[in-house]
Amino acid sequence: MCGIVAYIGPREAYPIILKGLKRLEYRGYDSSGVALLNNDLRVYKKKGKVAELEDSLVGKDLHANAGMGHTRWATHGEPNDRNAHPHSSASGRLAMIHNGIIENYTQLKNELSRKGYQFKSDTDTEVLLNFIEDIQKNNNCGLEEAVRIALKRVVGAYVIVLLDKESPDTIIAARKGSPLVIGIGKGEHFLASDASPIIEYTKEVVYVNDYELAILKPDELILKNLGNEKLTPYVQKLDLELAAIEKGGYDHFMLKEIFEQPDTIFDCLRGRLDVTKGTITMAGIQQNIERLTKANRIIMVACGTSWHAGLVAEYIFEELCRIPVEVEYASEFRYRNPVIHPGDVIIAISQSGETADTIVAIEKAKENGAFIMGVVNVVGSSIARISNAGAYTHAGPEIGVASTKAFTAQLTVLTMIALKVAKEKGTIDTTRYMQLLAELHNMPEKVKEVLQLAKPIQQLAEKYKDAADALYLGRGYNFPVALEGALKLKEISYIHAEGYPAAEMKHGPIALVDEHLPVVFVATKDSYHEKIVSNIQEIKARKGKVIAVISQGDEIIEKMANDYISIPETDELVAPILSVIPMQLLAYYIGVAKGYDVDKPRNLAKSVTVE
Ligand code: AGP
Repeated sequence: MCGIVAYIGPREAYPIILKGLKRLEYRGYDSSGVALLNNDLRVYKKKGKVAELEDSLVGKDLHANAGMGHTRWATHGEPNDRNAHPHSSASGRLAMIHNGIIENYTQLKNELSRKGYQFKSDTDTEVLLNFIEDIQKNNNCGLEEAVRIALKRVVGAYVIVLLDKESPDTIIAARKGSPLVIGIGKGEHFLASDASPIIEYTKEVVYVNDYELAILKPDELILKNLGNEKLTPYVQKLDLELAAIEKGGYDHFMLKEIFEQPDTIFDCLRGRLDVTKGTITMAGIQQNIERLTKANRIIMVACGTSWHAGLVAEYIFEELCRIPVEVEYASEFRYRNPVIHPGDVIIAISQSGETADTIVAIEKAKENGAFIMGVVNVVGSSIARISNAGAYTHAGPEIGVASTKAFTAQLTVLTMIALKVAKEKGTIDTTRYMQLLAELHNMPEKVKEVLQLAKPIQQLAEKYKDAADALYLGRGYNFPVALEGALKLKEISYIHAEGYPAAEMKHGPIALVDEHLPVVFVATKDSYHEKIVSNIQEIKARKGKVIAVISQGDEIIEKMANDYISIPETDELVAPILSVIPMQLLAYYIGVAKGYDVDKPRNLAKSVTVE
């Protein structure tokens, strides 16, 4: 998820673009750049925040009435000056910025390399740009036509914006799967990923649809489809405030990120899981598959929410791959003198990729001969660089301190890795394998269904917001979800909460139970169902208030619980991706009901880069 902005008209383009990039920095902030078109085409780009780009351009000739800018959230190619956008074509005549993922870029790159093209970056974007220029040259056609031809060959998601040195009065843009809005001014036009860079200049906007192409001149906007048919732009009036736009109309980034999960899980599966072919394509894993299939032991190393993802993965890897798994708190692992055997694989899980304890823990393990696999969200982050191999979670930037969409993306990636290893090892039969692929494939739709329960969960939050303590209980795959639910409530509402394996209650914590204690059960239908029903009875017998997350149609627990949240039934192995969402929403709404800043909770940081 990157931020894109462009301008063409009588005003100075650079200041408009710079301000717009700063407004879009919540979409990605690892590198940025601008291209300015006047008599020549100047491209400036830099690793780091937009402010660093701005500082680096002081004293430069920035005069131009047309230009574009990009703030990056890396997917292909780590954050550095080379991979920052805009990219220039081989001839230098064209410049392009891009938001999205070109899934078949390797194939296009091979075709172009065979023609002698060299690439300055590791990005899919530069490949697409040269593919467009190659068509323009070979077909001897205009840029607009070359873009239309090229996009018919592209698989993936994109918003692209192009400048052509030889057409200083024109900007070309196209969209599929990533957001693009055009602002209509008097004798000028604005382009951006959302309206936040546009709102102060005009309230007249056009939201570009998939497979549409826009040709912009200062006083003209032409919309076409890839079939070269002209379309009538549907002009709308903006009635949103700036702050609301950055949060996409949600009150907080945390809520926005919770509601992004159908898309982020889809992005995680995109270009990787093919349910029809029954394949999982993950290059970083495939190239090192033997390390995993022959692993004597897998050690998950992480902190906080990522550690909970590791705990769910322990159940999954042992079940499917029959490889012993240990889950380690990085902060303990780094100081304990752990026994590391050659052949041990460490899976380091981290949203930020910058958590100090996890970094040092894996550096130590690496020194002792372990092979490090990273499951990371921030591309090019330290943990990604230290790892020998790995997979990105593609959840996009997570702004809210409480991790939500990164957690479900971590579970999705870890499940795909386990399925790939099990398939390779032959420890899973084809029916089960295909069944679990289908479960993952259908997950985004099921998540959408769970999100429709936000209102009743908000009412539950109102009911329990004054609780002094809370217990979260689960069994099997749902035990780590109980831990995660408790962590979310602690982080966001400052209510003391503990997560426990439900059967562990009898060994002490049940002493806490009385009529004032809400006890949240993660009790979706699974092989532990009967057991968890009796655990609920134990709590009921001591007047505890039972709130249960259950599978639709579970009449047994419906009758027992004081309150329940019914979610779509799914296989127990992937159920944590669904059952955690009511936990996220409950914590969020209790935090809001208590008037706390849920995006920046007290005492916490988004990335703990110190020990
Ligand atoms: C979770 O909501 C917290 N923000 C925190 O526990 C976090 O999961 C932990 O600090 C690990 O961060 P990482 O995934 O970026 O390594």
